[in-house]
Amino acid sequence: MTLRVIAIDGPAASGKSSTAGLVARRLGWAHLDSGALYRAVTLAVLDNLREQGAGSGTSWPPQQIVALAEDLPVRLVLVDDIYRPEVAGVDVAQAIRSERVTQRVSAVAAIPEVRHWVNVQQREAVLSHPRGVVVDGRDIGTVVFPDAPLKVFLTASPEERARRRLAERGGSRTPDPIEVGREADVLAARDRADSTRRVAPLKAAADAVVLDTTRLGLEEQVGQVVALARERLPG
Ligand code: CDP
Ligand code: CDP
Repeated sequence: MTLRVIAIDGPAASGKSSTAGLVARRLGWAHLDSGALYRAVTLAVLDNLREQGAGSGTSWPPQQIVALAEDLPVRLVLVDDIYRPEVAGVDVAQAIRSERVTQRVSAVAAIPEVRHWVNVQQREAVLSHPRGVVVDGRDIGTVVFPDAPLKVFLTASPEERARRRLAERGGSRTPDPIEVGREADVLAARDRADSTRRVAPLKAAADAVVLDTTRLGLEEQVGQVVALARERLPG
């Protein structure tokens, strides 16, 4: 039986979550943002665990992170076909976007035990959903759902991605080039961390459809993914 899942991967601010959310709505499926779960675990860690060591080598024992995620708990709750991140029963969709979470999330996501825990949550969600789930992240097509019938890898130039992030924060549509350059560097540093880690690095699956969205409108890219989905997942 065909797995009812669409995998959307790509670097930071390439448009994964917006695209996945709109594609899910058009298909009548649910949307799961796996990055939100990594961010929710990171938020829980920052609020509850004391770091070991000092300076750049600081870290948390992997088993403590997983135990914390189980106990609080950190989880995804399905509300109107969107899997929303919760920590200890509180919706954290806003809180996980904070700067302090963004700065530390790649380090937490590089821990194999954390990735295993997050992957179990994702697979449980997908297997229990009655229709299908559009999942976005970094390793969905390569590791979490290698059998997904449709895998999309979104890209966009670093400057375009930086402009999108700045616009999201309420900045001007034509921001200062220095500000764009600074944000592009921040995104590039996270992409580098995500692409060079040992476990499940960010990369396109060999059978992914690569879509460069630098010059695409959101509606256009959503339309292209929906068309591919209708081709590959009839009914
Ligand atoms: O939305 P944005 O591109 O800023 O990032 P995100 O999707 O919220 O993901 C935050 C971080 O979680 C990424 O930088 C990765 O370190 C990690 N992540 C991952 O390792 N694997 C995934 N499938 C999704 C996210
Ligand atoms: O999930 P990811 O970090 O890859 O990106 P996102 O949060 O979905 O998208 C970043 C921003 O780019 C959102 O405000 C989108 O509306 C916007 N955007 C886009 O995704 N695609 C375009 N073609 C134009 C804008």
